[in-house]
Amino acid sequence: MAAAAIKHYLQFSDFSAAEYAYLIERAAFIKRKFKAYEKYHPLSDRTLAMIFEKASTRTRVSFEAGMYQMGGSVVHLTTGDSQLGRSEPIEDTARIISRMIDLVMIRTFEQTRIEQFAAHSRVPVINGLTNEYHPCQVLADIFTYIEHRGSIQGKTVAWVGDGNNMANTWAQAAALLGFTLRVSTPRGYEVDTQLATLEGRPKGKGWENVADPLQACAGADLVTTDVWTSMGYEAENEARRKAFANWCVDAEMMAAAKPDALFMHCLPAHRGEEVTADVIDGAQSVVWDEAENRMHVQKALMEYLLLGQQT
Ligand code: CP
Ligand code: NVA
Repeated sequence: MAAAAIKHYLQFSDFSAAEYAYLIERAAFIKRKFKAYEKYHPLSDRTLAMIFEKASTRTRVSFEAGMYQMGGSVVHLTTGDSQLGRSEPIEDTARIISRMIDLVMIRTFEQTRIEQFAAHSRVPVINGLTNEYHPCQVLADIFTYIEHRGSIQGKTVAWVGDGNNMANTWAQAAALLGFTLRVSTPRGYEVDTQLATLEGRPKGKGWENVADPLQACAGADLVTTDVWTSMGYEAENEARRKAFANWCVDAEMMAAAKPDALFMHCLPAHRGEEVTADVIDGAQSVVWDEAENRMHVQKALMEYLLLGQQT
């Protein structure tokens, strides 16, 4: 009998709408236990390896704390303190780590690198951010939206800023979960249609480009943005500061959205660049819930990948 295929989480489109419905419900269940100080150790004796080839605060803390809270343990590796930094092939690293560990989370550069790792891994691999995607963050964002406002189906989300890993992931989520994403980016920084489109669906299904950021926000249920310069693109910093000057989410953009619209940002944020301080620190902002929810959704995700759906 052929071995069952390993389930990885490398991009948002790896799961179905039904799997997301389950994960959202499960994350709420796990969050309630956490808030009530109830012990929940479904992953005792399981170990997560976290490999960071880029910096992190939230991703590291949320995965590490989450794994310990579920009774498991964690091994933390970076490029600088492992043989990855001395050119050991990613395939060999995957073969070795996955013989000793139950689950792997990787933050790296090209999506092809995490795909290569997954292809040689005996255990599930989770994308903790690549140049192309950041699925755990968008899962947390959607969970946060639902917590505050109920179903996201049929709603309108405005993306203001760079057509980056977060924007690509939001675009996949829109097509999968049935909401509209309006993407407003400066010319030359649009989302990559190939990355943002779900396989087998018409191009652009679920998302549309809107040149004017204010127009993108008009009547939106959620306004969201991200840094102008993502990790790995630092050399473009100065050019980007100029190109993105009109893509700062401010009070005028929030006023154009629905009166009960939420503001989200995956963080870290640069106040005065992609968002003004009064918006990110204002009443419509849910950025702190969004950051905390990384841990709750990832606990549900790790449980699902290791133990399957719980009844
Ligand atoms: N949002 C996010 O992934 O944050 P970190 O870079 O701090 O992990
Ligand atoms: N787009 C940003 C997200 C950081 C969490 C980056 O890739 O640096």
